[in-house]
Amino acid sequence: MKIMMMIKLCFFSMSLICIAPADAQTEGVVFGYKGKNGPNQWGHLNPHFTTCAVGKLQSPIDIQRRQIFYNHKLNSIHREYYFTNATLVNHVCNVAMFFGEGAGDVIIENKNYTLLQMHWHTPSEHHLHGVQYAAELHMVHQAKDGSFAVVASLFKIGTEEPFLSQMKEKLVKLKEERLKGNHTAQVEVGRIDTRHIERKTRKYYRYIGSLTTPPCSENVSWTILGKVIF
Ligand SMILES: *[C@@H]1O[C@H](CO)[C@@H](O)[C@H](O)[C@H]1NC(C)=O
Ligand SMILES: *[C@@H]1O[C@H](CO)[C@@H](O)[C@H](O)[C@H]1NC(C)=O
Ligand SMILES: *[C@@H]1O[C@H](CO)[C@@H](O)[C@H](O)[C@H]1NC(C)=O
Ligand SMILES: *[C@@H]1O[C@H](CO)[C@@H](O)[C@H](O)[C@H]1NC(C)=O
Repeated sequence: MKIMMMIKLCFFSMSLICIAPADAQTEGVVFGYKGKNGPNQWGHLNPHFTTCAVGKLQSPIDIQRRQIFYNHKLNSIHREYYFTNATLVNHVCNVAMFFGEGAGDVIIENKNYTLLQMHWHTPSEHHLHGVQYAAELHMVHQAKDGSFAVVASLFKIGTEEPFLSQMKEKLVKLKEERLKGNHTAQVEVGRIDTRHIERKTRKYYRYIGSLTTPPCSENVSWTILGKVIF
């Protein structure tokens, strides 16, 4: 498998502070997207974040035409997602949706990864042929051995996407919670209809990278869908 040249992209448009997710060693560590907590400093914020500074396979990247090659060994990607309970969580710097058990799975190179959560970034983290899009969805899957596979979709502003519009009311509720000063606000979404998420995609970009937030762990299998959605 070819590994593309990795370029750690910098972000200047976000000023929000992010709080590292629950983990015994790093819980509560604050990171951000500029200044003294920005991406260039992540590696120094906590001993468990050093990969952010010294890693060799860091995401996100700009997927550049001259670095892409067609791999005939890759099959179309198959995902199976089911109706399941979901919870929206405000992580301050992003909004994530966590799924209960049995949310679905994706098979990548004969390995079965289970869907754990999805979250959105705005603007997009990955660039496609030098272009940064309005938003990016990350569907995070994990295999039994602990390794991650993320399937990403890039968004343009346009006609509302049916999957997102189901959540509109809940997002408003989440915002209200946040405005009340609740920094760990959660809203139960209940059973969510994932039928609108495309299951079969032929055009995608695959590379091995990392988590895009601390601890920036590597060996993450990335699949960037080729079709930009709205
Ligand atoms: C889904 O969530 C609701 C409300 O929290 C709960 O009553 C129900 O048992 C959950 N269902 C499953 C399958 O977890
Ligand atoms: C992937 O794993 C899940 C959970 O272990 C299982 O329910 C599902 O059938 C598996 N999918 C395939 C295609 O093997
Ligand atoms: C904040 O939200 C959480 C999860 O929804 C809830 O359990 C908690 O009671 C809320 N706290 C306040 C101060 O409203
Ligand atoms: C990287 O991921 C592949 C595929 O999941 C796995 O076989 C391999 O052992 C992993 N390597 C490391 C160093 O974790």
